[in-house]
Amino acid sequence: MKELFGKMKNGDDIYKYSIENGEYSLNVLTLGATIQSLKVPNSKGEIVDVVLGYKTAEEYLNCSTYYGMCVGRVANRIKGAKFTLNNVEYKIENNEGENSLHSGYSSFCFKNWKSQELLINDNPALKFSVKSYDGEGGFPGNVEVTCTYILTKDGQVVINYEGITDKDTIMNLTNHSYFNLGGDYQKTILDHKLQLDSDKYVEVDETAIPTGNILSTKKTAFDFNVFHTLGERINQIPGGYDHTVCFSRYTGQLSKVGDFRCDRSKINMEILTTMPSLQLYSGNFISQNDINKDGSKGIKNGGVCFETQFLPDSPNHDNFQSIELKSDEKYQHTTIYKFSTY
Ligand code: BGC
Repeated sequence: MKELFGKMKNGDDIYKYSIENGEYSLNVLTLGATIQSLKVPNSKGEIVDVVLGYKTAEEYLNCSTYYGMCVGRVANRIKGAKFTLNNVEYKIENNEGENSLHSGYSSFCFKNWKSQELLINDNPALKFSVKSYDGEGGFPGNVEVTCTYILTKDGQVVINYEGITDKDTIMNLTNHSYFNLGGDYQKTILDHKLQLDSDKYVEVDETAIPTGNILSTKKTAFDFNVFHTLGERINQIPGGYDHTVCFSRYTGQLSKVGDFRCDRSKINMEILTTMPSLQLYSGNFISQNDINKDGSKGIKNGGVCFETQFLPDSPNHDNFQSIELKSDEKYQHTTIYKFSTY
């Protein structure tokens, strides 16, 4: 099902698609292939919307939170908004001082994607596609990207990313959903519990740019190998969690990397991915100007992001895994958020 959601600045229509399967339902916008709502049952059988979202297209078009959006060509930061590929230096948009965050204003998240409703293995699915031309935002290559959401009866939101380019380029896509499993947007996620199979994290400087060091999580507030609440040690980290953590058992294959849960709703969310790391971002910059879709004001730590991706600023660090996408390769990644109750 689709309904008109709003307009792009050029007047194009933005649609909101809704799919459901059993007790689960998902709304995705053509703007940014954005997850606007995700409803799952709590342990009492009540339906809870577990992601933050806005009510209007204007808010999405002007936001700096990236609520639920599909971010690309390259998620997170690139120092000095420049990188070198095949001996050519490319200058991309700087939108955070000298640096680039989430690829600037030409990011895929601010584009109106083409959409298609599908059935995949009997599950309702939404396939979004977008093109970006050679040189757009400063990146090389004409690229075509698809982002497909599949909703299964057993509570999985499967996100499949695919991309091709006609010239060597770089690519690192993510989904920027803010999860709040209590469904009460006036309560923070600091009482939610997290477990992550991660033994390392990426050290960053005061501008959130990687220093190049990848450090052990042992004896730090980044060690989530056993469950900890997000609030327990957050004060040990100036500003809160906004760091990349690397998975201990990364193989490139789809595998489970952790669990996130809320004792109030007793909703558990498993995280599975093919990617090597995720940006753990505890919603530190959500402000009261971010009006939630239920009309309430946004609060700091009102949601947390698990942005599965490759390491930030990868092109500028030889010791980070490359995010180069060659013209004869296909970018292909999957992340799954799987919901259940306990
Ligand atoms: C970044 C944060 C940023 C947030 C919203 C995250 O991916 O790491 O620093 O505030 O996105 O823009």
